[in-house]
Formats: sequence, structure tokens, C-alpha cells
Amino acid sequence: MSENEGVRLQKVLAEAGIGSRRHCEELIGEGRVTVDGKKVFRFGERVDPRHAVIHVDGKRVETRSEMRYYAINKPRGVVSTMSDERGRKSLADYVEVPERLFHVGRLDTDTEGLILLTNDGELSHRLTHPSYGVFKTYLAEIHGPIPRDLGRRLRAGVTLDDGPAKADKFRIFDQVGRRVLVEITLHEGRKHIVRRLLKEVGFPVQQLARIEFGPIKLGQLQPGGIRALTVHEVGELYKSVGL
Ligand code: URA
Repeated sequence: MSENEGVRLQKVLAEAGIGSRRHCEELIGEGRVTVDGKKVFRFGERVDPRHAVIHVDGKRVETRSEMRYYAINKPRGVVSTMSDERGRKSLADYVEVPERLFHVGRLDTDTEGLILLTNDGELSHRLTHPSYGVFKTYLAEIHGPIPRDLGRRLRAGVTLDDGPAKADKFRIFDQVGRRVLVEITLHEGRKHIVRRLLKEVGFPVQQLARIEFGPIKLGQLQPGGIRALTVHEVGELYKSVGL
């Protein structure tokens, strides 16, 4: 990129939300910024924010200003699509941003919890493609008491109609009387997978919520709530799928 073309790197970083221009200059001066894989020390460096691949401390910074990334807490009873021909409530009922967004994967209508929304096709594709094995964590309510070896059985794996399935992690999250809340993490996304897995070991799910998708946590977002992901979170998402 020639002297007068493109945008100064510190401006691009500041506009991407990394911090003040001065702070971004410091990051550049400290050698913490790379453009297209090369370390940049010069403040005046100009880049094309639509094409440059910029990392700060090894984490990708999204510089295409038209890209949008949101987390929504889908309430139970809402379909995981942006519209519904049968007139049921869909994600679009909760999204008040003008951009056209896509949902990254789906949850059962009966499941509540975290769904990512974006217009970044490549990221969305990778996050849902089985080969990237992105981890998802759920809270499932089941009826106890549960045997001591349940976690071990789930991690060892079971055979479902469409092949083997297993949990990567399992723990008891909370227990009130016979109502047991378990946290279960998997890296696959077959339909009804958590419900089928727990049913197979004798504990049909009463209620289900997704609380994490890769590095993104639902946190305090209430059902029906939506929030923009932070620059840091978008960088983590990229990292999780090798972008
Ligand atoms: N597993 C399920 O059973 N349902 C979901 O909605 C997501 C994962």
C-alpha cells in the first residue's frame, strides 16, 4: 500500500475498538501488532481495513466496519430462525438492528440460551462446521438422584440411532431435592444431541439452556436480551476456528 492510500494503522485499530489512538500507537511501538502476518513498528503504516488481516497480541481484530456480531438469549418457545412462516415468535422479534444477520446454528424451540448472530459468513460457517469442533456448554435439568458414575458414562460415550456421542465435560451444577442441574459440554451439534444423550443414560431432560458457545459466555443476558460482542470476544471467536 503506497504512502497516501489506505488508513493509518493506529486509526484502524482505534476504530475497531482497541482503545484510544495513543494507546494503539503504544501497542504498535511495542511490536504487539501484526498486519498480514508481519510485525509493524511504524505508526504511519497505512492499511486497507477491508482486506488487511490484523492481530494484536496474536488475536485477530475485526476491521471490516460492516461486520456485526451479537449474542442473544433465545427464550424458550421461540424458533431459532430469523422468521417463521407459521407466525411463531422467531429471533427477529428480538433483534432491532438494521443489518441482515444470520444465526450461528440452532437451538430446539424448547431450549433457551445463547445463539450468536452475525453477517460474517466465513466465521459462521466455521463455527457450525463439525470439523472445527467448537465446544458448547449447556445446563440441563434432570430428575435425580443420579448415580456417581454418570459423568464417567457420558464421557465414555453412548451409541445413539445416528452413531456414537459423548460429553467432553460433565458436572453437577446445583441440586435442590430431586431437581438436579447438570452442566454438560460437547463439541458437536447434532439435532437434540443433549436431550438424546441424557435420555439414553436414563435421565430425560426437563429443561435445557445453552450457556456457552466456544469462548462466548451467556453471562447475565436475560431471555430475550441481545448484546453486541466485544472486540475481545470477536478475536476469541476467530481464534477458536483458526482465523
Ligand atoms: N441439544 C439439544 O438437545 N437441544 C438443543 O437445543 C441443543 C443441543
